[in-house]
Amino acid sequence: MSSRGPAYRIVTPRLVLRCWDPRDAPLLKDAIDSSLDHLRPWMPWARHEPQTVAQKVELLREFRGQFDLGADSVYGIFDAGEERVLGGTGLHPRIGPGGLEIGYWIRADAAGRGFATESTAALTRVAFEVAGVERVEIRCAPENLASAAIPRKLGYSEEATPDDLLFTLTAARLAGTPAADARLAAYNVMGSVLIDDLA
Ligand SMILES: CC(C)(COP(=O)(O)OP(=O)(O)OC[C@H]1O[C@@H](n2cnc3c(N)ncnc32)[C@H](O)[C@@H]1OP(=O)(O)O)[C@@H](O)C(=O)NCCC(=O)NCCS
Repeated sequence: MSSRGPAYRIVTPRLVLRCWDPRDAPLLKDAIDSSLDHLRPWMPWARHEPQTVAQKVELLREFRGQFDLGADSVYGIFDAGEERVLGGTGLHPRIGPGGLEIGYWIRADAAGRGFATESTAALTRVAFEVAGVERVEIRCAPENLASAAIPRKLGYSEEATPDDLLFTLTAARLAGTPAADARLAAYNVMGSVLIDDLA
């Protein structure tokens, strides 16, 4: 991460992406519990749902701790008023040095409105411009057409691997892609502006 980052809060035209707080547990539980059939085919963790609010508090303490330590960046996706959890996303360092992998899910009753595309475009810019990585990856099952549509729309390159579809965008190829056109504001833990093109 750059000395000014990481980005704790990212505002897009319709969404707020921010570091989870354990107090978000009831909102997260509501988003997941109302979306079980939608999530279970694609998100392995959804097979262990529903969980209690107390279990969600523990999970969000872990996410928050990892975020603060710079170990992993899991974000909640909220509506503009932060009254509802619309989904989850993250910038995960699990693909090795110089790269970050983006994952995402959107609650069932908010799907199909472009929210995953909007949040992924913003996170792509944050990965390159704040975290300073060289490469961003997205992986999904070939049958998951809604998921694959997102990196396709944002200008990622695509290759099939034996296990899944791998989408990659490099810093050198960002310019001119739809992802580069994402409009967002990003703030660090102190609320200082890292990127602001919403003003
Ligand atoms: C995949 C998911 C995140 C997409 O979220 P979303 O906010 O609905 O996505 P968007 O609206 O930004 O874009 C979805 C695109 O997929 C397209 N799409 C949806 N279903 C499709 C289908 N069956 N076949 C082809 N395209 C499809 C939509 O038309 C849209 O593209 P468009 O804007 O060009 O029309 C959401 O459906 C979800 O959470 N699914 C369950 C969890 C999951 O699969 N996560 C990803 C794991 S890799």
